[in-house]
Amino acid sequence: MNRSHRIAAREVLQNEARRLEPEHLRELLEREPERVERDVCEVAGLRLDWTRQRLDARAWEGLFDAARAAGIPAALEHLFGGERVNVTEGRAALHTALRLPREARCEVDGEDVVPVVHEVLDRMEAFVTAVHDGTHRGFSGRPIEAVVNIGIGGSDLGPRMVCRALADHACPAAGGSPLDMHFVSNVDGEALSRVLREVDPETTLFVVASKTFTTQETLTNARAAREWLVEHAAGDASAVAAHFVAVSTARERVEAFGISPERMFGFWDWVGGRYSVWSAIGLPVALMLGMEGFRRFLAGAHKMDEHVRTATVEDNAAARMALVDLWNQDTQGAESRAVLPYDERLYFLPPYLQQAEMESLGKRVRLDGTPVEGHTGALVWGAVGTDGQHAFYQLLHQGTRRVPAEFVGVARAEHDLPEQHPMLLANLVAQAEALALGRSEDEARAEMAAAGRDAAEIEALAAHRSFPGDRPSTLILLEDLDPERLGALIALFEHKIYVLASLWEINAFDQWGVELGKQLAGRVLADLDPAGEPGPHDPATAASIDWLRRHM
Ligand code: F6P
Repeated sequence: MNRSHRIAAREVLQNEARRLEPEHLRELLEREPERVERDVCEVAGLRLDWTRQRLDARAWEGLFDAARAAGIPAALEHLFGGERVNVTEGRAALHTALRLPREARCEVDGEDVVPVVHEVLDRMEAFVTAVHDGTHRGFSGRPIEAVVNIGIGGSDLGPRMVCRALADHACPAAGGSPLDMHFVSNVDGEALSRVLREVDPETTLFVVASKTFTTQETLTNARAAREWLVEHAAGDASAVAAHFVAVSTARERVEAFGISPERMFGFWDWVGGRYSVWSAIGLPVALMLGMEGFRRFLAGAHKMDEHVRTATVEDNAAARMALVDLWNQDTQGAESRAVLPYDERLYFLPPYLQQAEMESLGKRVRLDGTPVEGHTGALVWGAVGTDGQHAFYQLLHQGTRRVPAEFVGVARAEHDLPEQHPMLLANLVAQAEALALGRSEDEARAEMAAAGRDAAEIEALAAHRSFPGDRPSTLILLEDLDPERLGALIALFEHKIYVLASLWEINAFDQWGVELGKQLAGRVLADLDPAGEPGPHDPATAASIDWLRRHM
């Protein structure tokens, strides 16, 4: 598609937004009763509801035209077809191949990758079974009871988020109970030492997860964990074999660390770190759920893949999610998006999506290296409701900015406390309603009058007690939080990200922006050593280093 088409289509959106600006969401909801039919879709077990977006039929048409002008159908074909969509690293981005069924085919450079994907899944299955049936035991002969995943970024957030979300589906391991799952990412020694205080060296398995096996935080923590284990095994280094496995693409570095190839589960450079939970990076998930549960998680994602691959732009859930984000950002002045799961199980969904989206979409040049016009990725933030309601929702309701919200709720709970869940869901729906409709000053006055307030007080408080409303949100509902639906949900977000990147012509799959800080940290680490002389720095950095050298 040529650029002038893209630009023209995006200009149409600005006109549509100007046309809609005077209309409040209350009016939009009344004017278009067909919104519920048109703007709610059910796919792969998810109910996606865009009825509370500041869009009408004509604006949607403009968005679909923008997607077509940006060549979204072709971009999706390239992704699924294994083309090198990660142009700056010359790689495909085939997280979709990780969830293909055994009988499917998917070629990278003429080679079908599905057999190697399933070979690793089968190896994972054998290992998970051995841990669960007690064939695989710790150095003293006791069964494995706890798993500590050591990884960071994409090698942490995916399994951490899924393990929290699906803990109710955990199956018992050899010790009789489900495995105790722990995650250590931060290089702050506080994180690892806290976990080491809780686990028993004789029954703990460490999963060292790093795509590159060069990440400072992960390797430092892994070395410390290994020392701790050997110390508790009376100095016997052979204990490491039973207690350490690695997940990586870097076989030689794993061996150099002292983990043998039989204890390594590989993946490939065409899997991006933040898209890797479907690969062996998901080993903690498989250990917790059992392999059947992990395969169900993959199957749910595959179902979403098939929808996204085959649906037209108009019916494509990922395209619509992306177009809503584009609309809010380009025409509604949104700078961020709040992810608000009303479910404790989805506690780590906001940070997971934060990495997935901000690392993927935090780009300032197009695929061809020229600067983008306007903005790319939004800030993604959030927390579980109802905690958020009592913390930051005030700004969402009455602040001066319009912050689009993305609510996620689950119809059925796994716990057996009957009173809580309807309350939680009522809060979820009420917040979406309140953000959309608001409360006018007249309504605020009427409410205060009904409560017997005097006229002077009513006048003084009416402006403070009114809500502008007209604040957009998307509502995502799931019947249950099970492996399939969670897989579908995460795959949907992945595809949304890729569609947005294609609309902006940026690369969703590299992350050069994190390199500079990593390189400088290496230099600063040497400068903090009191035995050495600090190297040259700007005055601000030099002063910080100097203070730390004197106080550490
Ligand atoms: O810091 C960025 C990053 O490269 C992420 O993209 C990645 O998920 C994380 O570091 C961890 O990398 P690795 O899996 O290679 O340790």
